[in-house]
Amino acid sequence: MSLKSVLRGCGAYLPDKILTNDDLARMVDTSDEWIRERTGIRERRVAAEGENTSDLAVKAASEALRAADLTPADVDLIVVATTTPDLTFPATAAIVQAKLGVEQGAAFDIQAVCTGFIYALSAADKFLASGQNRCALVIGAETFSRILDWEDRSTCVLFGDGAGAFVLEAQDADAAGERGFINSYLRCDGRLVDLLYVDGGVSATGSAGYVRMQGNKVFREAVIRISQAMERVAADAGVSVHDIDWFVPHQANERIIHGVVKKLDLRVDQVISTIAGQGNTSAASIPLAYSAGVADGRIKQGDLVLLEAMGGGLTWGAALLRA
Ligand code: UT7
Repeated sequence: MSLKSVLRGCGAYLPDKILTNDDLARMVDTSDEWIRERTGIRERRVAAEGENTSDLAVKAASEALRAADLTPADVDLIVVATTTPDLTFPATAAIVQAKLGVEQGAAFDIQAVCTGFIYALSAADKFLASGQNRCALVIGAETFSRILDWEDRSTCVLFGDGAGAFVLEAQDADAAGERGFINSYLRCDGRLVDLLYVDGGVSATGSAGYVRMQGNKVFREAVIRISQAMERVAADAGVSVHDIDWFVPHQANERIIHGVVKKLDLRVDQVISTIAGQGNTSAASIPLAYSAGVADGRIKQGDLVLLEAMGGGLTWGAALLRA
């Protein structure tokens, strides 16, 4: 029997605290107008003191399990994409496993920064399609607020905290029909590390460090690399980007998203965008946006959905699935 991974349900969680552009303008030399015009962001969420990445992840995962009509007893794989783990070790996925009450299976983290969710989805799909696991929680969760330099206006205005989750289930490919994960295209070019990184870490400095970014250089790389990944993943699946129903991009900058839409001749009304209210939540942004699209009824069962992201590494990639 040939197996494929089918998306059974998704979920999202955002911390309560809202930080508006005007709030930021009281902290650094910036303005609501600059942030909105350059990025499309109006506000973002910030995790409360003591609220960790695993807490956000557990809330999103619980919602995804409810949507899938499954329980922790059904889950035998947890993959958490995060750049902001609770602890250096164990993996945040292990902490999430315990908090959810999952007592079986495997759990590990994936670190590919803003591309993390695409990497995690792709990895989980391989475990399910091979028959090694039956039901995976794939989670993107971040508390980026903890690695921001709140005096650096070029980065602190961009990011937010949050989590999103998918429940993927291994199903008989014939029975699943067209539904399910189709394929992914993953890339990394480590020569571009200096464009976007954190200036600390266990081995190098013994501290967590802060985000450093040459924003305009990352911006210049983004549209071309993301567009290429989207065209490639579609071509590998034997479809065109024009066949997709919904485009769920990583939410880094509205201008990047619109640049990709223009380059590939897509329609703006095909984009699920959450950037205005959430900012860039790194690995969490794709499942958060996807969940928003499902919650408001735009993404329906059977729709063809294209996901993409680019982030530190540089890493970038795209994935195609039929909802
Ligand atoms: O998710 C991971 C991937 N990350 C991204 O994709 C981010 C990609 N980059 C971007 O989104 C954009 O480059 C930014 C939004 C970060 C910046 O926009 P930009 O149009 O590329 O601006 P810039 O960096 O070229 O800076 C233009 C000016 C500079 O001033 P001068 O040198 O022209 O006088 C900056 O100092 O804007 C200034 N600036 C600000 N001004 C007000 C930078 N940040 C701010 C700020 N408020 N927050």
